[in-house]
Amino acid sequence: MAHGVKKAAAIGGGVIGGGWVARFLLNGIDVAVYDPHPEAKRIMSEILANAERAYAKMLLPPLGEMGTLTFHDTIADAVKDADYIQESVPERLDIKHKVFAEIEATAKKGALIGSSTSGYKPSELQDGAKHPERIFVAHPFNPVYLLPLVELVRTEKNDPKALDRAAAFLTEVGMKPLHVRKEIDAHIADRFLEAVWREGLWLIKDGIATTEEIDDAIRFGFGLRWAQMGLFETYRVAGGEAGMRHFIAQFGPCLSWPWTKLMDVPELTDELVEMIATQSDEQSGKYTIRELERIRDDNLVGILQALKANDWGAGQSLKEMENRFYAKAHAGSAKTEIEDGKPLQLYSTQVRGDWVDYNGHMTEFRYLQVLADGTDAFLIFIGMDETYRKRGLSIYTVETHIRHVRECKAGEKLTLYTRLLGKDEKRLRILHEVLNEAGDVVCTGEHMLLHVNTEEARACPMESPVTDRVETIARAHGGIGTPEFAGRPIRTI
Ligand SMILES: NC(=O)c1ccc[n+]([C@@H]2O[C@H](COP(=O)([O-])OP(=O)(O)OC[C@H]3O[C@@H](n4cnc5c(N)ncnc54)[C@H](O)[C@@H]3O)[C@@H](O)[C@H]2O)c1
Repeated sequence: MAHGVKKAAAIGGGVIGGGWVARFLLNGIDVAVYDPHPEAKRIMSEILANAERAYAKMLLPPLGEMGTLTFHDTIADAVKDADYIQESVPERLDIKHKVFAEIEATAKKGALIGSSTSGYKPSELQDGAKHPERIFVAHPFNPVYLLPLVELVRTEKNDPKALDRAAAFLTEVGMKPLHVRKEIDAHIADRFLEAVWREGLWLIKDGIATTEEIDDAIRFGFGLRWAQMGLFETYRVAGGEAGMRHFIAQFGPCLSWPWTKLMDVPELTDELVEMIATQSDEQSGKYTIRELERIRDDNLVGILQALKANDWGAGQSLKEMENRFYAKAHAGSAKTEIEDGKPLQLYSTQVRGDWVDYNGHMTEFRYLQVLADGTDAFLIFIGMDETYRKRGLSIYTVETHIRHVRECKAGEKLTLYTRLLGKDEKRLRILHEVLNEAGDVVCTGEHMLLHVNTEEARACPMESPVTDRVETIARAHGGIGTPEFAGRPIRTI
């Protein structure tokens, strides 16, 4: 669905607002921010630095151009040309109402206005608004730039089509919108969190477990299980071959046993708060919050990458986001002209800070990554796009010869020149020459590519439109000649 969102605004740029801003910017969306905090810019730049670091680790394709970030002195100024506005001010209804009144006064007519509220119902947020139909709940999870889930909650006053537009936009920035059928306090996910939180408070108050033991009970066991299957599918599996009914029959009686204290909540006395705070200091006080965030992000990146490799759950959202980054990175290459006697110039990149190793220059495997990205650009150029791949056809690299010629420093711009050295009906032999800004060759990569039927896992002849493009390139590149190093085995000594 076309969502029409070109520009976003963020009202409130704390933990959650900052996370939204980072997600939008990294997905190429311009964001205008209003936050009266005197240090809003510093806080935002720190969140953004962590988000960029996490994306650089998480996404294999080039990150592409980021959106532009602007700070504004008034809500009116920040929202005036935004198509999507995300409110993330403190969880107090009076503050939220005041902010919505200011947003409504200048926002564009069709602007979508989402609230990050953890607990308020959309009808409570819409109360007293001039245009209640524009306001809905878009409840994310911290860190917003990594976790895909966003709960969308509306009332009868909202136009469902507007929520569909919001969902389309949020999907495009890598999120998984979940439409909540009926508004309730705390939506769906925070209900669970609240239940687990209350049990945690009881376990500490009754001296049964410390904060660390409770966290261990989650993170070494069911937390990992929940991360990839949720509750019901997990229990279905737990029921074994006899399935869900057997599971419920087996554990159903527990519902009347004292397995939970959920009907009652311990009073948060000063003594209990102190006990929790002390235990938490003992458990985690040796790390700063920023360090803990980086440890958390690294763990999440690992889990998300693993889920992507298995094409499962949150990994599917990441895979789709990666595909969009690839398509964006190589969109320009498809328009390049094929010129007689000249290599193709389809891909350029910049050496990122985290590609540099202890020697102070680009580490070995990044040379291959640059060459592989160049091969991807070449494959898109010859018509091997998503539509072609959906036919069960692809191209695999089966042999590579890299010559590391020069060092590359962080920040250097690299441009790839690609030529077709040879072909038959199933194979392509290509050569990339990678040049720095001074025009020096920093490396060359010679690759043998094999056209395959992915379902049958065997080589097969190329098909149209790839065959036609390859034919045209072969004619144009026929006269360039083959450099003396091409086809050479590694030298003997
Ligand atoms: N922290 C979480 O884990 C979490 C998760 C999901 C949703 N939320 C929700 O997100 C919202 C924000 O929570 P947070 O954790 O980011 O809080 P926070 O305190 O980190 O950030 C709130 C920000 O709002 C700014 N602010 C205060 N008054 C403002 C105003 N009038 N206009 C614009 N900005 C204003 C503050 O300066 C601050 O930077 C809340 O509604 C909360 O329930 C929080």
